[in-house]
This record gives sequence, structure tokens and C-alpha cells, in this order.
Amino acid sequence: MISDLSALRDQILRFKEEKRAVILSHNYQRDEVQEIADFVGDSLELSRTAATLDCAMIVFCGVHFMAESASILSPEKTVLLPEREAGCPMADMIRADAPRPVRKTFPGFENPPAYVYPPEFSLKDIKKQNPGVPVVAYVNTTAEVKAESDICCTSANVVRVIESLPGDAVICVPDKNLSMWAAKNTRKKVIAWDGYCNIHERVTVEDIGRARREHPQAVVMAHPECRIEVLELADHVTSTSGMLRFATASPETEFVVGTEIGLLHRLRKETPNKVFYPLRNDMVCPNMKKTTLQSILRSFRENTFVVNVPEHVRIPAKLALDRMLRVA
Ligand code: 13P
Ligand code: SF4
Repeated sequence: MISDLSALRDQILRFKEEKRAVILSHNYQRDEVQEIADFVGDSLELSRTAATLDCAMIVFCGVHFMAESASILSPEKTVLLPEREAGCPMADMIRADAPRPVRKTFPGFENPPAYVYPPEFSLKDIKKQNPGVPVVAYVNTTAEVKAESDICCTSANVVRVIESLPGDAVICVPDKNLSMWAAKNTRKKVIAWDGYCNIHERVTVEDIGRARREHPQAVVMAHPECRIEVLELADHVTSTSGMLRFATASPETEFVVGTEIGLLHRLRKETPNKVFYPLRNDMVCPNMKKTTLQSILRSFRENTFVVNVPEHVRIPAKLALDRMLRVA
């Protein structure tokens, strides 16, 4: 095992050249992983980049659904996920055709702005009950769920995607928080499902109150995976890269960051004259943190772990992703 950091980096860079590879990193990755990547971004930017890259191999430093989307969009490239167990629990919640009992209650959602299907329902069940209603799948889903959907979305484009569809209703899965946020920002009826990200769902109204007391001058930004009552109290709701763009363009100098703390690295690096406070110090996605420089090096050495999607799933899933990329 190489412990010297610069030797480790040199080895990775040599492999990268030799294998005509590009390293992509999500905004939540460890600082040193972001630093070695060729491109760092949010889910939408990473999908766009993966679709247009001229290379033989993509080493995707993120979670499984992100590498899977890259493989769906660019099947001719070898797509590697350096850590096999780096999954997204939300993406694994809803199934295309099997029920998945997750939990039975909707705490804090007595009057949700969207109709929320409980977890006993698979996507096919919901489609059967709402014939002809288009399905929007958040990219945080499996390839099978994307293949059952009309179009994908990310936190950066969910409202634009919904508005691009015909009719006055949409099914939007799996994140109920993102779906409810979209429902508040469109006139269409949004039929949701009871999925959630446990990192963002832990943020409470009290956290916002505390942040405002501790940092009275700061602008509060929140990711749409937070609970709807939290989003209603935030000053700005957007994707991870949306937060970076917003903070860069804003005349304000202090910001509370309501998302996974990995984003702080880019915020501080790219806007060094501004101050950023995490909304909660425990907003840490353990799956995003699994990837290290050592695992990237192993990935190159051992060609692990190749992400592939069978053609009968990949082709309809690609249609849904391509439609999204055409919208925004
Ligand atoms: P972004 O698309 O905003 O980067 O979010 C991805 C994600 O997994 C949020 O938890
Ligand atoms: Fe999934 Fe949440 Fe981690 Fe994002 S932060 S990858 S939604 S578990």
C-alpha cells in the first residue's frame, strides 16, 4: 500500500494517461478525491459530462446510480466505480415492480402538497393506478426504475422537467421531499412516493432557527432533499452546484450550507473571500466518503468495479436520461 500522498497521486495520474481515463467526482467526495478529479460537479453536470467525454474509461467517484447513469449514456466506455459498496440508500428504496416495505408513517406530513404513495407500492403499481400520467424519475434511482420512466430529473432541473411534460399531472419518484418542493413550484398535480435521503431528512426546523441565531448575517441555502418545512424556511433552495453558483454571484458574504459537508471544499476554494457554515456537522454521506485515493488506484490496477447495464434495461433508461438532457 502506498502511503506517500504525492507518490499515490503520481501513480493515479500515470494510470489515467495510460488508460485514456477521465476521473469524475461528485461535489460530496473527499477533498483529495475532488482535487485529483478532471471534473467535479452535481448529478446533472456529471451526467452531461459523461455523455460527451472523449475517452476510453471513466472512473466515477460518487455513488452507484451515478456511475450507472454514465454507463447507460456511454456504453462504449469502461465505467469503474472504485468502491463496490458505495450505493445511495434512497436510490435503492423504490423498485420497478416489487413492493419494498420501508416504513408506514409520514411524520410531519399531515397536509402534504403532493399525494404521497406509501412504500408498499412499486412504480408499476403507481403507473397502473394512474394510466397515461408521465413518470419523472429522480436520477437517484436504479436503471430498472429509469427504464420504467418517461424522463429523468435532478435537483437542478426537476421543475423544468415537470413543466416540459404534457398533461396536468406527473408521477415523481422516489424522493417525497424533492417532489413536494416541485409541487410547490408548478401548477401540475404531483404524485409522489415515500422515499427520502437520511442525510438531508435529519435537518429540522430547529436547525434553521439555530443557524439564524448563530449567524444572523448569513444566507441559508438548502438542498431540495431536505424536508418541505425546512425548505420553506430557507432563503435559497437549489442543487449542490446551484449553491456554488448562487454563493459566487451573490453580493452577500456569509452562507449556511444545508447539504452534505463535502460541498464546503469547493465553496471555500472557489469563493475564498466568503464564509460558509455547515447547517449540521453530521450531514455526512458515508457512501460518498467510501472512495479514497487508495481505492482509485486499486480501481485502475484491478479494473474494478465495472458498472454495466443489460441492453434491455439500458436502452429505455437511456431514453429517459436523454430526454432530461434535452430539457435542461
Ligand atoms: P446534486 O445533484 O444536487 O449534486 O445532489 C445529488 C445528491 O445525491 C444529493 O444528495
Ligand atoms: Fe444518496 Fe443522500 Fe448520499 Fe445523496 S446524500 S448520495 S441522496 S444517501
